[in-house]
Amino acid sequence: MAELQKDPITRGDFLGFGVIGAVMGTLLTIPPVAYLLGPVIDVDVRGRSNVSQGWQEVGPVAEVPEDEPKVFTVEFPIDQLYGDRQIQRQFPDTPRSRERFTVRNAIWLSWKAPILKEGRQGSTGDELGHPRKPEFLNRKSSGFTPEEIREVERSINVLSNSCAHLGCPVRWIQREGEGEFLCPCHGGIYDINGGWVGGPPPRGMFRYTKFEVRENGRLYVKHEFDVEPGIPGLTTTEPYVI
Ligand code: FES
Repeated sequence: MAELQKDPITRGDFLGFGVIGAVMGTLLTIPPVAYLLGPVIDVDVRGRSNVSQGWQEVGPVAEVPEDEPKVFTVEFPIDQLYGDRQIQRQFPDTPRSRERFTVRNAIWLSWKAPILKEGRQGSTGDELGHPRKPEFLNRKSSGFTPEEIREVERSINVLSNSCAHLGCPVRWIQREGEGEFLCPCHGGIYDINGGWVGGPPPRGMFRYTKFEVRENGRLYVKHEFDVEPGIPGLTTTEPYVI
């Protein structure tokens, strides 16, 4: 009797084809589904962040040493808005949702050192005098008079931790009584006033433009920087990663 011809496709082969078919089917389904979900994806992705423009506490100014900057961490509340107005015009039922969270920024405080020699291009100076910490801060750390507040506000640098080149966090490197801010990413260097000294950054460190010292001896900032108009992606107050 002729031997029964063996089925060339085994059960395992059959299951294998099934799995491959399912994978192929899924892959082919992705583009049309993505197309159909386009508006939804847009709504989720095209959000907007608003950093709070309220005052945030940085810390006590008396703690900033004479010759060395001190870094403080500040929590800025952020409103994250999902749902784009343009999308809502097309799909009026799309809800706008709002999330609130905080972003932690590092802020450097230092005492202004007078410039003794005119600086190179983009620099506040090549040669700096001794930083001038107001003398009364050696005796008191709070209970400031209006004159003392003005003196501190005139004497202090309030600097962003974000390198003016591509935003890496800068570090203070102290060397025998002197020091510099150094950016570890591409070697940008700044002086104690945040002035450009060397490397690729096109300018000095970003400065907080709105800050105030209060009677309690603490410094407060608003999220606003000395950004020149016209730089793509940067404004003085818009989300600005630090
Ligand atoms: S990010 Fe600082 S030098 Fe490039």
